[in-house]
Amino acid sequence: MNAPLARKAVQEMAATRTPVTASRQSGLAVETFLSHGTRSPHDFGGSVNPPVCRASTLVFDDMADMDRRQQALARDEPGVLWYGRLGTATTFALQDSIAYLEGGYRTLLASSGLGACIAGLSAFLKAGDHVLMSDSAYGPVRHYAKTVLGRYGITTTFYDPQIGAGIEALIQANTRVVYVESPGSQTFEVQDIPAIADCAHHHGARVVMDNTWASPLYFKALEHGVDVSVQACTKYITGHSDVLLGAITTTRECWQEVHEQAFAHGLNAGPDDAYLAQRGLRTLSVRLERHQRSALQVAEWLAAQPEVEQVLHPGLPGAPGHTLWKRDFKGSSGLFGVVFKPCTQESLRAFVDALQLFHLGFSWGGFESMVMPEVPMPEREASPWPYQGSLVRLHVGLESPDDLIADLREAMQHLRA
Ligand SMILES: Cc1ncc(COP(=O)(O)O)c(C=O)c1O
Repeated sequence: MNAPLARKAVQEMAATRTPVTASRQSGLAVETFLSHGTRSPHDFGGSVNPPVCRASTLVFDDMADMDRRQQALARDEPGVLWYGRLGTATTFALQDSIAYLEGGYRTLLASSGLGACIAGLSAFLKAGDHVLMSDSAYGPVRHYAKTVLGRYGITTTFYDPQIGAGIEALIQANTRVVYVESPGSQTFEVQDIPAIADCAHHHGARVVMDNTWASPLYFKALEHGVDVSVQACTKYITGHSDVLLGAITTTRECWQEVHEQAFAHGLNAGPDDAYLAQRGLRTLSVRLERHQRSALQVAEWLAAQPEVEQVLHPGLPGAPGHTLWKRDFKGSSGLFGVVFKPCTQESLRAFVDALQLFHLGFSWGGFESMVMPEVPMPEREASPWPYQGSLVRLHVGLESPDDLIADLREAMQHLRA
């Protein structure tokens, strides 16, 4: 682009970049939004997706231009091009997309899912406050609460994920945040989010949710009473296991506190990662449909095997949490647990090592299948783990479910041995 054209593009962007880019599309089916939302090829020389805009410095035309943008920032207008850390066209496009999908007011990005969980949680806290955190919360978030929040004089009580309205009894005068993760990504309990949110709000506390398992497509966290919904975009949103990224979406009411905290802490995400996440979003509904279908097929097969004590898949009829899942969720993803009947550690290790199509590794939400043995007991404080056998977490990817079942069948010979 020559200079005047580039300038025009930036000015147009500054003028039109609002969550409106997304809300203009409201009324469209989610699949249509995923294809068309937050794109503006004419601003970018015809590029179908907003391209990677790398910038620390963003220069102004003149002092008047700088003043104009500063005033827009002071009015808290979205999409103001001011300094790279506050966002560029690439990050604004992704923020708009996620805000729309979550049904939120605005979205901020963090450089990892963990960073986003922590930013959402800590935005409402000060010394002397109290947090209620689900016993099923992602381990590093628990760790943050116990270590860093503890050092700042903030106490945390862990609660049984299935407590529902019973959470009322745990709320203290200084409880500011109730942190939920449903289903827990290691132990898969489904939480009664509306009941928990009702109690929390009644006592003036905020509800912060890790909504990564379902993605914003299969659980509308804010519609169910959550104030801040967090996504580890590292998982389904990016979908290709090659990006670390987080997103925090808030209601209008919570925006100011979350935004202030994020700004003060220098929260930021790189444009390459935001670009890849935006590209991943385009196929999110197609991928999720496939993850859902295949995972249910694999889970059903596992549930019928004599070596299995319990399949922990909320979408599976009869499995723990299925009734709540059916009431609140629009779909299920590819991540679930399987508890094998008690066996030796050697057999379990041999089972994992024998798998050819499920790779051993920590993350999930990508196109590929994953396996990870889990040991929930030492971490839990409020709810004893009810199973005797070993827990293994599976992520069912986009491979043929028949091939995955054949792989599991073969590897399960080792459990029998
Ligand atoms: C449920 C859940 N939330 C948050 C995270 C953190 O995401 P990231 O790895 O991007 O920090 C993870 C990662 O495994 C997760 O499983």
